[in-house]
Amino acid sequence: MKFFVDTAEIDAIAELNDLGMVDGVTTNPSLILKSGRDILEVTKEICDLVDGPVSAEVVATKADAMIAEGRKLAEIAENITIKLPLTWDGLKACKELTGDGHMVNVTLCFSANQALLAAKAGATFISPFIGRLDDINLDGMDLIEDIRTIYDNYHFETQILAASIRSVNHVLESARIGADVITAPPDVIKKLAFHPLTDKGLDQFLSDWAKTGQKIL
Ligand code: G3P
Repeated sequence: MKFFVDTAEIDAIAELNDLGMVDGVTTNPSLILKSGRDILEVTKEICDLVDGPVSAEVVATKADAMIAEGRKLAEIAENITIKLPLTWDGLKACKELTGDGHMVNVTLCFSANQALLAAKAGATFISPFIGRLDDINLDGMDLIEDIRTIYDNYHFETQILAASIRSVNHVLESARIGADVITAPPDVIKKLAFHPLTDKGLDQFLSDWAKTGQKIL
């Protein structure tokens, strides 16, 4: 499973990237706002740092304008993935931009039928939003499972990019179901390393080691 990091914070991306944990990056208008940076500048910096796909989202709502914005974003770097909302116009833009040879991430997906349409429009990635479904008392993981089944039934090549991930359990369940990619905030990725028994065991080892009076270096 590939790990994308869901942020426009350069330092956080760099820290995870140095550990080989970053297969790509996803951004959106809210994350650009949070970074306080200019979209073109910060996206270029991310693309220079990371080898994998970097999603940059259009903000136009009509297909022609989405296509124009997508082409401008794609000029930033070769690893740009144009992010488009899952609307009818977004699907038209997806068809056109993938036809040009660009990678496209279709975002704001909340149903398996939407994911089916995105695959038929040639999307490189589909982004089902798990956390936002959980927020309204639905089970976001059911959506990942349905899309996995449908894409496998028909051998669609669109990759399932599990998004709106809020917890380590979302990562685990996405991996169990077979999502191709997860995109998660940096703190969620770092929390994957935590286990209380690891900390407890380490404390015990260090305390016993101190009693030996030995040194390795
Ligand atoms: O990748 C999409 C993600 O940024 C949305 O997450 O937590 O705002 O629902 P969230």
